[in-house]
Parts: sequence; structure tokens; C-alpha cells
Amino acid sequence: TYIISEPCIDIKDKSCIDVCPVDCIHEFDRMLVIDPEECIDCGACEPECPVEAIFPEDALPDKWQPFVKINYAFPEGAAVINALVEQYATEHDVHNEPP
Ligand code: F3S
Ligand code: F3S
Repeated sequence: TYIISEPCIDIKDKSCIDVCPVDCIHEFDRMLVIDPEECIDCGACEPECPVEAIFPEDALPDKWQPFVKINYAFPEGAAVINALVEQYATEHDVHNEPP
């Protein structure tokens, strides 16, 4: 699967949504995540993101490994994902601004 990571937080450009052939990218309060059960690893989303938030899981930078758990939490629903993102953003003092 592909993973959406920290640069998406509070940016939510959404260019990625338009190109996903299986509509597996979903919006939550502060970022979007990819449903790992539905992603077909086509790679179409990765170059569309203006802040380079999207990576193949095996190429995700070490510092953003917590986003594996956040994307894989998709089946647990919005409350769980929103809470995990909020916790990450607080712990890492995230202040992203559009490019
Ligand atoms: Fe986020 Fe980039 Fe998509 S900012 S919404 S991953 S295009
Ligand atoms: Fe969708 Fe392909 Fe990305 S299936 S999430 S556009 S890798």
C-alpha cells in the first residue's frame, strides 16, 4: 500500500483523490489517509501531492513511520484516526503551511 504522512496535516490539497482509480483515499479532520485494503499500489497519487506526503509503505521515511499505523487504522473509523493524528500533531508540534 501507499501511505499518506505528516506533510498532509492541515494542508489537505486533495489532488491525490482525483487520480486514485479505486477511490481508496479518504478525508478526515486534519489529513487524508489511504485504505490499505483497497489500495492497488498503482502509484498514481504519489506525484500529484504538492507537499510530497505520499510514499510507498516500504519507502516511507523513518521519521514518519507513525503514519503506517494511522493509515492502517482506516477500518477503525474517523474517531480513532482523528485522535491518532491529533496525538501525533501535538507530540511533534506540527505547523504545516501550504507551499
Ligand atoms: Fe494530502 Fe497531498 Fe493528498 S496534501 S490530500 S496527500 S495531495
Ligand atoms: Fe490509489 Fe493508486 Fe494511490 S490505488 S491510493 S492512487 S497508489
